[in-house]
Amino acid sequence: MKRLVIVSNRVPVPKEGLRPGGLAVVLHDLLALQGGMWFGWNGTTSADAETTPPQIQHAGGVEYATIGLTPAEHKHYYTGFSNSTLWPLMHSLPEFIHFERRELSTYWSVNERFCENLLPLLRDDDTIWIHDYHLLPLAAQLRRKGVNMPIGFFLHTPFPAPDMLAIAPDGGTFLRDMLCADLLGFQTSDDTANFIFAAQRTAGARLVAPDTLSFEGHTVRVGSFAVEIDPDAFARTAAEAVEAPELKQLRSSLAGRKLIFGVDRMDPTKGLCDRLAGYDRLLESYPIWQRNVTFLQIAAESRVDVPSYRALRQELEGMIGKLNAQRGQADWTPLRFLTRGSARRVVAGYMRQAQIGYITPLRDGMNLVAKEYVAAQDPDDPGVLILSRMAGAARQLEAALLVNPLDHDDLADALNRALGMPKAERRERWQACRTHLEGCTALGWGQAFLRTLEATVAR
Ligand code: G6P
Repeated sequence: MKRLVIVSNRVPVPKEGLRPGGLAVVLHDLLALQGGMWFGWNGTTSADAETTPPQIQHAGGVEYATIGLTPAEHKHYYTGFSNSTLWPLMHSLPEFIHFERRELSTYWSVNERFCENLLPLLRDDDTIWIHDYHLLPLAAQLRRKGVNMPIGFFLHTPFPAPDMLAIAPDGGTFLRDMLCADLLGFQTSDDTANFIFAAQRTAGARLVAPDTLSFEGHTVRVGSFAVEIDPDAFARTAAEAVEAPELKQLRSSLAGRKLIFGVDRMDPTKGLCDRLAGYDRLLESYPIWQRNVTFLQIAAESRVDVPSYRALRQELEGMIGKLNAQRGQADWTPLRFLTRGSARRVVAGYMRQAQIGYITPLRDGMNLVAKEYVAAQDPDDPGVLILSRMAGAARQLEAALLVNPLDHDDLADALNRALGMPKAERRERWQACRTHLEGCTALGWGQAFLRTLEATVAR
């Protein structure tokens, strides 16, 4: 079997006794199964990072090759162009986009440095799989250096409509660079269609088959590969966790009140302000729920140097204080808002405990939390998932209560409906959502992508 080389901005090297969560686990498992190397940033900054060679470590049968960033690279490539420009652009949220031309040149030079450091580590029989918006130019840079092994690229975020791309500085260059891969994977068929349209209109690629573009004599396959979770394993974790001390404490603090639960990174795309406003509207429009419900939101701090993230934190702090001060009572706090991340096991337990999963991103590539909430439920007495129409997961979980994340009345109506939903309807909706997760595994997602890549280069 060919060696797999995964390249992503951040490399979560496993630490003694600690396993990373979510998608990182899948990529580790793929590498452990197939044998391979994970290359990328080690999460640190240092002044001499540019001249320090990659650090090689081994864990669980996987090789990790990591490099640092200089403080300037971190500022312009990571905080700047990746997270202040591309991230909101990919999510079609122009109001959060900030653009500085010098950040774009650092973005290119850091990709170039990834390329230069990766090259000597590559072997002829490698398959390279590049991940996400931080590394859009990398496939092209590798090709320019003569790399001719199979290259796949997967975008974890949405891909925007072509008119959004027009505001991307050098949008055409990014498209042409992406087209140097052999397989481009997206989360949904809409993202794939957006890319195909943009590649033809902006980069001059030709569609030679429904899933194949031709560009400068090279063909590239495009397709959607929805990221999945392991529903059975997550269900077991959740069922075990409800008996954990943290969950017992939570239950006793709820004193019989219904629980609404959300968990996200604190990120402007997640719709947290509107989510809180929707909850506030519930308490205003449906006062029957006052004192009878508690909303627990975990919003783990993220990308704290990006100005829009700092502004979001401030806005949220104001909203949280106001909501609890105006609506709370001496013995009832309507909203509990935590900015510390919690252990995955405990989060799974919170999900199972919650009568409502309240997940309302403004836009999201997939949103695995929505799938995890479904998996975590007790089949006999499941909770209700309220999910933004703008999340990729809404394409699969159509039996959830789908909402417009900006419409506070819609959010309040959905919360009211979910809180009062009879068990028969809850079971029916849950069953329909659960059916979509059936037979899927996170590993299966990665293997499907790699099989398609292999088939593509064999044609
Ligand atoms: C999203 C992106 C990932 C990224 C993660 C955490 O899921 O698609 O590429 O790693 O957020 O963000 P961070 O900036 O902390 O790596």
